[in-house]
Amino acid sequence: MSDTDTTETAAAFEPTIVAFFCNWCTYLAADLAGTSRMKYAPNARIIRVMCSGRVDPQFVFDAFAKGADGVLIGGCHPGDCHYQEGNTKALRRFTLLRRMLTDLGVEEERIRLEWISAAEADRLRDVMNEMADQIRALGPFRLPDGAVAPAAPRREEVPA
Ligand code: FES
Repeated sequence: MSDTDTTETAAAFEPTIVAFFCNWCTYLAADLAGTSRMKYAPNARIIRVMCSGRVDPQFVFDAFAKGADGVLIGGCHPGDCHYQEGNTKALRRFTLLRRMLTDLGVEEERIRLEWISAAEADRLRDVMNEMADQIRALGPFRLPDGAVAPAAPRREEVPA
């Protein structure tokens, strides 16, 4: 590959963001953004889950292993989770997971948790645009040299 090819490839890089959105809030915000014809970065591959607490750390590892450049988890605001504490559990898992990934040298901008209600389409747009910009600047996801992806903790090993 020539230098010109490399430059063109870098310029054309568009990140793939795997987005796990709660059915009751962030997924509806994405729906509202669509029906409102809002324009935002089209980089997300949205996966609907019933609650942000349903996002197993293994889902995140699998997303990165299968080509994601970033992972976004969207859930209901604290106090609004339809399953009472699902988002609280999601936050605990997320904190641990992001620490594991940053310890490996993965940039923290690549994994993000946001509370976005069904009415907050504009916030969804802003988060998507910001995350796409940040990851575009970082470039494609790669584990740092010498890093070995950890085995994901089993669900029962992750704090509830
Ligand atoms: S139902 Fe939305 S985060 Fe739990």
